[in-house]
Amino acid sequence: MDQQTPSAWVRIFVPLIRSGGRVLDLAAGGGRHTRLLLDMGLLVTAIDRDVADLRAFAGGNCEIRQIDLETGAPGIPMEALGGGYDGIVVTNYLHRPLLEPIVAALAPGGVLIYETFALGNERLGRPRNPDFLLRPGELLDAFAALTIIAFEQGEVTVPRPAVIQRIAAVAGPVGRLPLDLDNASRPE
Ligand SMILES: C[S@@+](CC[C@H](N)C(=O)[O-])C[C@H]1O[C@@H](n2cnc3c(N)ncnc32)[C@H](O)[C@@H]1O
Repeated sequence: MDQQTPSAWVRIFVPLIRSGGRVLDLAAGGGRHTRLLLDMGLLVTAIDRDVADLRAFAGGNCEIRQIDLETGAPGIPMEALGGGYDGIVVTNYLHRPLLEPIVAALAPGGVLIYETFALGNERLGRPRNPDFLLRPGELLDAFAALTIIAFEQGEVTVPRPAVIQRIAAVAGPVGRLPLDLDNASRPE
């Protein structure tokens, strides 16, 4: 995984997040999306069990929370996540008990951007454990309560060969799309 470059999927959909809104970067790792979100003027909560690399981002617009999201104690995930987020970004991380609390943590109109590995990835590299690999269509099922804007599943080659699944969804009615593809491809 490229530790620095934000995911292209995340970059496409972050402009849908309310300007100046509060965003959760869940399992934020080295902070590649925390940095992107802060650069966009958003207020970021970054959670990870290992916050060594995230501490550099802490400040008025960025709260770093060191939390083990998989303690298993009932109610912990919900409390740990907080709520009322205008955006939630999750990449390269899967802990299925968090999927429902993620939906609950979105504010009305909040945008969820999720991308992680899927079944089939075990042929190409890590992770290989099915606990960390999405089943076909699993994000569609998990986030059926949201309005799905975009969904993809399949093999990619960049940043390395992998099988992934990714979704962008809104807690509310259908709104604008981030890219006007028809406009972009219209000949001059
Ligand atoms: C593959 S990294 C992805 C980091 C970041 N989302 C990205 O795409 O650049 C997975 C992250 O999940 C975090 N993580 C794994 N298990 C966790 C747990 N139980 N609680 C909190 N964070 C956890 C790891 O510390 C790591 O930073």
